[in-house]
Amino acid sequence: MEIKKVGVVGCGAMGAGIVQVCAQAGFQVVASEINDALLKRGLGLIDTLLSKDVSKQKITQADKEAIQARIKGTTDMKDFVECDLVIEAVIESMELKRKVFGDLDKICPPHAILASNSSSLSILDMAIATKRLDKVLGIHFFNPVPVMKLVELIRTIATSDETADAGRQFAEKVGKTVVAAKDTPGFIVNYLMIPQLLNAVRILEKGVAAKEDIDNAMKLGLNHPLGPFALIDLVGVDVVCFIAKAVYEETKDPQFIIPTLLQKMFTAGWLGRKSGKGFYDYQKS
Ligand code: CAA
Repeated sequence: MEIKKVGVVGCGAMGAGIVQVCAQAGFQVVASEINDALLKRGLGLIDTLLSKDVSKQKITQADKEAIQARIKGTTDMKDFVECDLVIEAVIESMELKRKVFGDLDKICPPHAILASNSSSLSILDMAIATKRLDKVLGIHFFNPVPVMKLVELIRTIATSDETADAGRQFAEKVGKTVVAAKDTPGFIVNYLMIPQLLNAVRILEKGVAAKEDIDNAMKLGLNHPLGPFALIDLVGVDVVCFIAKAVYEETKDPQFIIPTLLQKMFTAGWLGRKSGKGFYDYQKS
């Protein structure tokens, strides 16, 4: 099956990144948000990043315009009516994701594949909101989407070979390297990464070292691009807590218990870069 037109539900940091890489790879893209303000913000993110690419001479102004001409922004999910693949990138709420999948199932053509960008939730639990279990899978991108090379491809027990193959071909066409994982909590990356981030918070709480020293230790000792606290701030304290909670609820694995400090930061609204404050300060002076 050939994918020509892609839909993306949600135009936040992840959704906008997915829209951008799809349009850059030549797909026609429909990007939806729940209101005009959020849609404008999402499309604005793409505009800013493409303008940077123009100023770095990675693309021409004409390329930028051609990429943007392939993107149709909408607040009406009915505009997904001609999509061959729709990827949802809404917030990590199973209730909302099920609603989105149920709506997409009614709107999209029978051949369309429905995918979730969820970082940790069960894809099958979303798929059951549709009447096309064989055409549902996880296509999990990483933040920032235009930079990160990986996609986790998640097959449920019901995903057909044809759907998995089409999902893999799509992800490769947008320039990503694909790893396949089963539909288990946290898949591969988050199952390994989240305990490491939470352990960094635990040793900070114990006073083993300062956050800057822990970050430098992981950057310079392991060649990680960011230390754990800078990475939590990039991913979002809310997202890290959400994934930890979701995996803990499924597995009862104590590695995923949220440390008190992180929970308190979540309560205070110190969510990282997106809120201007996390482990570090991002307020513009
Ligand atoms: N969107 C698009 N491009 C971006 C970007 C963004 N938000 N942030 C940086 N970039 C680009 C820059 O434009 C630059 O591109 P060029 O090399 O072409 O000029 C390149 O990335 C490097 O950026 P900088 O020089 O500004 O900064 P840097 O060297 O510190 O790199 C980084 C920034 C790429 C984000 C780097 O810090 C990094 O790789 N961090 C680790 C990110 C990571 O681990 N992500 C995974 C998070 S976990 C996840 O996503 C899974 C989940 O489910 C929660």
